[in-house]
Amino acid sequence: MDMTLNPLIRAINPDVEAELATVTESMRFTLQEVMGEERGGNYYTLEWLRNRLLQHLDPGQYQAQVLLAEDYDGNILGHTIVRMERDEKGQNFGLYSTTYVKPEARRRGIAVQLVQRGEDWLREQGMTRLATDTALDNDKLIGLFQARGYEVVFRSREMLRLQKDFA
Ligand SMILES: CC(C)(COP(=O)(O)OP(=O)(O)OC[C@H]1O[C@@H](n2cnc3c(N)ncnc32)[C@H](O)[C@@H]1OP(=O)(O)O)[C@@H](O)C(=O)NCCC(=O)NCCS
Repeated sequence: MDMTLNPLIRAINPDVEAELATVTESMRFTLQEVMGEERGGNYYTLEWLRNRLLQHLDPGQYQAQVLLAEDYDGNILGHTIVRMERDEKGQNFGLYSTTYVKPEARRRGIAVQLVQRGEDWLREQGMTRLATDTALDNDKLIGLFQARGYEVVFRSREMLRLQKDFA
């Protein structure tokens, strides 16, 4: 049986440097895949991305979860970062910040499990509106969220927002 079909989904351990490094690197891979190798690779430094990750692990800055998908050998196959956000009207909602699965582990339902766990956590925090933003042409992510009932609610020249309302 292919064990990667059933990865362990768990919160990151902020004391484990290798986990922080893997997620930081994956944040950069995400930018490169979505924006193109060069633009995405140069958009933020690794130091900036690491600090951004650490902000999500600091309860003084964000109410957030960094969730990892791990195989039975302890390899990290992907992650999602979710947090509570406030919109321009001061209303809280849940935001998926990045979702990434390593190319060799894709199309096995790992992102579905990450998104589900992110959704569970955000709903436990009382969020009834969940959203994610991505590039207009990111068909993989759009397919993933649309299949879970999220709808496009906003489009700009480069980005769109997918949203699901549980209320
Ligand atoms: C988007 C991403 C996280 C999906 O990860 P994954 O583990 O392969 O996704 P899953 O296997 O759970 O797929 C779930 C659903 O997503 C959609 N999907 C996934 N890959 C897709 C693709 N290449 N084309 C179209 N739809 C796709 C499908 O609806 C799929 O369901 P199906 O396999 O039953 O058709 C992954 O492709 C990725 O890391 N992409 C690069 C990073 C990125 O763009 N992140 C978002 C930044 S905002």
